[in-house]
Amino acid sequence: MTTAETSILRLGTAEVELCSIGEAEVFLSYPASLDEWLSAGERRTLEGLRTPKRKRDWLSARVAAKRVVGRRLRALGHPTPSADIEIASHESREPFVADEEGDPDESLPVSLSHAGDYGACALGAPGTRVGMDLERIEPRDPAWRELMADDSELEPDSLGSPEALTRLWTAKEAVLKLLGVGLSVDLRGVMLRADGGVQLAGAALERWKSLGAPELELHFARYHDCCLTVSTSRR
Ligand SMILES: CC(C)(COP(=O)(O)OP(=O)(O)OC[C@H]1O[C@@H](n2cnc3c(N)ncnc32)[C@H](O)[C@@H]1OP(=O)(O)O)[C@@H](O)C(=O)NCCC(=O)NCCS
Repeated sequence: MTTAETSILRLGTAEVELCSIGEAEVFLSYPASLDEWLSAGERRTLEGLRTPKRKRDWLSARVAAKRVVGRRLRALGHPTPSADIEIASHESREPFVADEEGDPDESLPVSLSHAGDYGACALGAPGTRVGMDLERIEPRDPAWRELMADDSELEPDSLGSPEALTRLWTAKEAVLKLLGVGLSVDLRGVMLRADGGVQLAGAALERWKSLGAPELELHFARYHDCCLTVSTSRR
């Protein structure tokens, strides 16, 4: 477990960059500043988003993505303006960095999340898969715990702990994002074993098998009032 105060975290083979919602709000209040960050297509997507909250969340994760991807490209000797780094999405909403043809660039695997005061992007090592989830730690209805988890997934003394539950939730969502499956999949289809391993069932299991049954790793961090989990695997 890593506790961090900076906006860049290294978790396993992934790097995570965070951008505050406040910073995204500043960009949104000076539309000309968005030209530095967004491609024309991304500007159109932003304009189509309905609520100010959705716009802030969406933009904070894209700014984080462009920073972390831009840093990797600079280190590789290919400095690229942020507006030329295109973060696109599959129909399932799974995000990807688009190459010149608009196809996923598998050397730059990304996963996005927004929660509380932050948007975040995890960038995996070239040719790996990555899933990441960020959630604010807060008390939640016991019915939600029943929906999400089995009691065997939590230490008996942490059954009601908001942090333990939030951490477990982010782990499940991170695995679902790595697998690229969306809202249709039950969070109980991803179970955390006491030894730290991941056990899959149902649609999550089928999807994992279709990807060649890669070994899944989980890495946890606490960031301010949030839990952040990254899941990685080989491709
Ligand atoms: C898709 C899902 C993982 C998003 O999680 P969330 O906590 O609501 O929202 P987050 O901010 O963490 O993540 C949103 C980002 O996930 C990414 N995402 C969406 N669908 C995805 C998919 N199929 N695969 C990978 N990433 C996906 C997107 O980048 C999205 O951000 P964007 O719309 O700005 O591009 C989640 O809603 C889901 O489908 N969970 C399935 C289990 C379930 O039923 N959950 C209900 C809660 S009890």
